[in-house]
Amino acid sequence: FAEQEQPQDLTGLRLLITAGRNNEPIDPVRFVTNRSTGKMGYALAEAAVKRGAQVTLVTGPSELAPPAGVTAIKVQTGLEMHDAVMAHVAAQDVIIGAAAVADYRPKLRHEQKLKKKDGPLVIEFERNPDILLEVGKQKRADQVLVGFAAETEQVLENARGKLERKHADLFVANDVSQTGAGFGTDTNIVTLVDRAGDTPLPLLSKREVADKILDRVLELRTREAG
Ligand code: CTP
Ligand code: CA
Repeated sequence: FAEQEQPQDLTGLRLLITAGRNNEPIDPVRFVTNRSTGKMGYALAEAAVKRGAQVTLVTGPSELAPPAGVTAIKVQTGLEMHDAVMAHVAAQDVIIGAAAVADYRPKLRHEQKLKKKDGPLVIEFERNPDILLEVGKQKRADQVLVGFAAETEQVLENARGKLERKHADLFVANDVSQTGAGFGTDTNIVTLVDRAGDTPLPLLSKREVADKILDRVLELRTREAG
């Protein structure tokens, strides 16, 4: 019943959503990662598919099962996530970057397990590509690009800076220092930041936040067309 009551307002739209974290290997048994669980990206994928969209979910390692009806592409590293997104971006109407992409990867992936030695271990990191920035640079006028900014300070300023720098249409600003927001929680407290201004939302479930984001994406598409 619930599914039939959902408005099918995303019918005919193709959405690509990135979700979760990256594991960046050091050697065959070790990697560097972050606290992202994928909950926000998976909630977006589920909400979008229920509203009739065709959804491609490019996901890093996550405990969650991809929602029914979603095409899931599973990746580990930031480079793999980059390649999967770039291979599919041209076919999309909407691209949403909910993944906590690893900014850096260890420069060397040791073939053999590292042995401990006396003294400190120094690991050199190099930059991963910025997926959202790359998508933003080649974005068509009919495509909507959405980013997330998980911040601990100057949340709205940082989110607006990223909106401009990455040529995005909408940024979801997330104060991860607040209780009930950010990594691993089922709820989130976000502000929608776009070129028309800031829209603070109350504490909501990630699924409710997902629907608010998708509502705004639809408004932005109409604004674009009109
Ligand atoms: N992002 C991305 N590729 C990266 C890093 C980030 O696509 N290599 C995307 C994220 O998915 C998110 C947005 O960019 O939608 C902002 O990510 P965030 O980590 O907040 O910003 P950064 O640009 O990485 O800046 P910093 O971490 O220094 O704040
Ligand atoms: Ca980052």
